[in-house]
Amino acid sequence: MLTKKFTCVKVDQQKDGITWVTFNRPEKRNAMSPTFHREMMEIMTALQVDPDTKIVILTGAGTAYSAGQDLKEYFRETDGNPGAKAEAGANSRWRSDLLWMYDKPTIAMINGYCVGGAFTHCICSDFAIAADDAVFSLSEVNWGILPGGMVSKMMSDTVSPRDAMYYACSGRPFNGKEAAAMRLVTFSVPKRSLKRETLKLARELLQKNQNVLRGTKHAIRATQNMHWNAAADYLVAKQAEIKMRDAARGHDSYQEGIRQFIDEKTYKPVFSPYIGAGEGKSGAVKKSAKKRSKKSAKKATRKK
Ligand code: COA
Repeated sequence: MLTKKFTCVKVDQQKDGITWVTFNRPEKRNAMSPTFHREMMEIMTALQVDPDTKIVILTGAGTAYSAGQDLKEYFRETDGNPGAKAEAGANSRWRSDLLWMYDKPTIAMINGYCVGGAFTHCICSDFAIAADDAVFSLSEVNWGILPGGMVSKMMSDTVSPRDAMYYACSGRPFNGKEAAAMRLVTFSVPKRSLKRETLKLARELLQKNQNVLRGTKHAIRATQNMHWNAAADYLVAKQAEIKMRDAARGHDSYQEGIRQFIDEKTYKPVFSPYIGAGEGKSGAVKKSAKKRSKKSAKKATRKK
């Protein structure tokens, strides 16, 4: 449990393992100052090993998700002070290096303006859910720099080269629906359902075995730039790591998942994780659970 209070960020921890990290400078549209980055680095580092946190949701207070780097405090006030600039730059890597291979699932809930440097944590979060009317903008070209801090590279790796070029060079704003169409975000929803849909995904992820989920996240990230053979080796090693981490808590997800499906017939992997996966539990499954699983499989088939 993270009990410390911060000046630019609010941390709210739910009992079920979902932790909300809210950028809290609404009067500055949650622009990212050096203090904000220092606090975010501390918070994200702490939550990664916090036993009460299973999933992190990033969002912004007020009308903005984040208006990007603070043009006054992050840029102008550190010009001519290489030490301060370097420190701010190093702390701002919570959005890139730290998030990219984070040990726990992360969701960016994009409630409003998402500008410039904020694209970094939009892209490096595992999932991004935007309000249909959120406003995205690569505004850099309009005020005198290119999309730096790796935003240009991340954009062209994430969306089509056509979209990256068009929005980076024109600086034209686009909305959440357009962001979803170009796959910059996972999906968009009407603002009134934003929190509900974000929590729905978070709760679904909580049902998975957290070691398997962590390994899966890492597999998708790390193999992106690997050659075939290196990726094959990485994936074998990562699966062995999952087994080892499960064993440390007296569990074996692989054996349990197969057993419940083949022997117990209590769930169908196409529709849900095995029973007890979220808690990493093994053991005989009750008849009631078996019935429940059959019902939910039927329901899922009917929906299609
Ligand atoms: N850096 C520093 N201050 C910022 C900021 C930023 N990125 N974005 C907003 N602010 C400040 C404004 O200067 C203003 O401060 P003030 O109240 O002391 O005058 C306050 O936040 C509110 O901004 P305002 O422009 O009045 O709000 P708005 O709701 O009308 O417009 C934006 C919101 C995001 C469209 C607009 O603020 C904007 O264009 N910001 C610049 C974003 C940007 O280019 N970021 C790129 C960084 S890489």
